[in-house]
Amino acid sequence: MIRSVVRGFGASLPKRVLTNGELESMVDTSDEWIVQRTGIRQRHIAGEGETTASLGEAAARAALDRAGLTAADIDLIIVATSTPDNTFPAVAVDIQNRIGMHHGFAFDVQAVCSGFVYAVATADAYIRGGIARRVLVIGAETFSRILDWTDRTTCVLFGDGAGAVVLEGVEGAGTTADRGVLTAQLRSDGAHRDKLYVDGGPSSTGTVGHLRMEGREVFKHAVGMITDVIEATFGATGMTADDIDWMVPHQANKRIIDGSARKLGIPLDKVVVTVDLHGNTSAASIPLALAAAAADGRIKEGDLVLLEAMGGGFTWGAVLLRW
Ligand code: UT7
Repeated sequence: MIRSVVRGFGASLPKRVLTNGELESMVDTSDEWIVQRTGIRQRHIAGEGETTASLGEAAARAALDRAGLTAADIDLIIVATSTPDNTFPAVAVDIQNRIGMHHGFAFDVQAVCSGFVYAVATADAYIRGGIARRVLVIGAETFSRILDWTDRTTCVLFGDGAGAVVLEGVEGAGTTADRGVLTAQLRSDGAHRDKLYVDGGPSSTGTVGHLRMEGREVFKHAVGMITDVIEATFGATGMTADDIDWMVPHQANKRIIDGSARKLGIPLDKVVVTVDLHGNTSAASIPLALAAAAADGRIKEGDLVLLEAMGGGFTWGAVLLRW
């Protein structure tokens, strides 16, 4: 059985850091409110010349270096983003060109904050189907560019950045002792589309639009949806919460992360948290957190790692993989 094994990882953050203290002078908010309600202390904001494609390129190059590979070794690039540089072409083909790859193929997936989980699940299906052997999976976002900077209920929450992994098809025994993706479970329900959306787009307004969110409504559904889809990964593999070495959640809100881990019985010291440093970077948040925990040696070869996310759509999903 072919398994999609993580060969390398990388991350990229804009230079500029925006603290809660600076936000106090922009909207009616306080460091205390933001930290208490979300756990966020700062976020990175893209500056001139920094775009979703440039951040994604830097993360991709770091992941290739870490894997000891070059663009010539990659068959497919999938970029998870909701903030592309242009409506089209895809960010993925831009990054393909930037890294000097002129073979294979590249496309974007759009599942908002669940984008990286969707992209890993898609890459895994292409690898197991024999269509691609090595896939560069990137989550890259510049949410700062679609925020309404006068709306305190959203502008304090999001940040910019990119993370990437190289997945490689490797023959496994077909047991849960294999390295690689063991299962990916995806869900969506468009009945919730108006709770988190952008109020513009090419075919509706002809503008880019701004992010709008009924935060309390999203919060209300988050923990239940996240824990349900994680239980589905346990059902599919026979693994349990006790088997998890590291939970790497989407970084939207520390209270949602803690609530989900507690409900599942996963100790908080096994949960990777970067929301304090990055804010919510949508599809980039999981690969940024993964890269941080793998680079500092917390996540080690053979560890069972749980990825989960929930976001606009609603979309949600989870991936269980052995590092
Ligand atoms: O990544 C995709 C998914 N997105 C999420 O997971 C976000 C989910 N939602 C959340 O994380 C939380 O709902 C928020 C952090 C957005 C808000 O926290 P909350 O505890 O649900 O607060 P709330 O919306 O119920 O607002 C409480 C109060 C309100 O005032 P009143 O109506 O009680 O007088 C808000 O107007 O806090 C006020 N408020 C603020 N105060 C200071 C809202 N934003 C701010 C702010 N600073 N930035």
